[in-house]
Amino acid sequence: MSRLDSFIRRMEAQREILNSVSKSIHALPGPVLEVGLGNGRTYSHLRELMPEREIFVFDRAVNAHPSSIPEDKYLFLGEVEETLASCGDRITEPAALIHSDIGIGDDQGNIEIAKWLSPLVEERTAVGGIVVCNMELNLSGFNELPLPEGIKPGRYFVYQKS
Ligand SMILES: C[S@@+](CC[C@H](N)C(=O)[O-])C[C@H]1O[C@@H](n2cnc3c(N)ncnc32)[C@H](O)[C@@H]1O
Repeated sequence: MSRLDSFIRRMEAQREILNSVSKSIHALPGPVLEVGLGNGRTYSHLRELMPEREIFVFDRAVNAHPSSIPEDKYLFLGEVEETLASCGDRITEPAALIHSDIGIGDDQGNIEIAKWLSPLVEERTAVGGIVVCNMELNLSGFNELPLPEGIKPGRYFVYQKS
């Protein structure tokens, strides 16, 4: 498969999963946490899917399209390891959805990230809340959910807090 095909499939999987989980959390209160703003494409999609939700965004820098830059009160700038650990004074409710897209495409690097990301995500998710991540996490008290049909296993990981 060409890299273009692979990229398109990854984006389609991302969109499909976000569409699906936004329906699943419909009745669950709590904000959405977008970990890794990047260009802001998934942030833009989450805003369209859930215009009524507060969406808090984490990144070390803002490099997003101007139409996809959150207001300051929804933005946490710095290393996620620090900002996600200390955001509790501004984000007082557990999250209905956490979407994390900060992987580096390298298996060993992702394993290292997952070590510190997993406990932070565990702590910030509401009971019944969903975590969507581009790398495998090690979450206790969560069930891994099946991916929507047609998405290759290992491309994305979806968990629900029990
Ligand atoms: C792949 S991009 C996210 C793309 C985004 N989902 C989109 O659709 O445009 C990953 C982002 O995560 C940020 N990032 C990666 N590791 C981080 C870390 N440890 N702390 C803060 N930001 C990080 C990078 O700066 C980058 O902007």
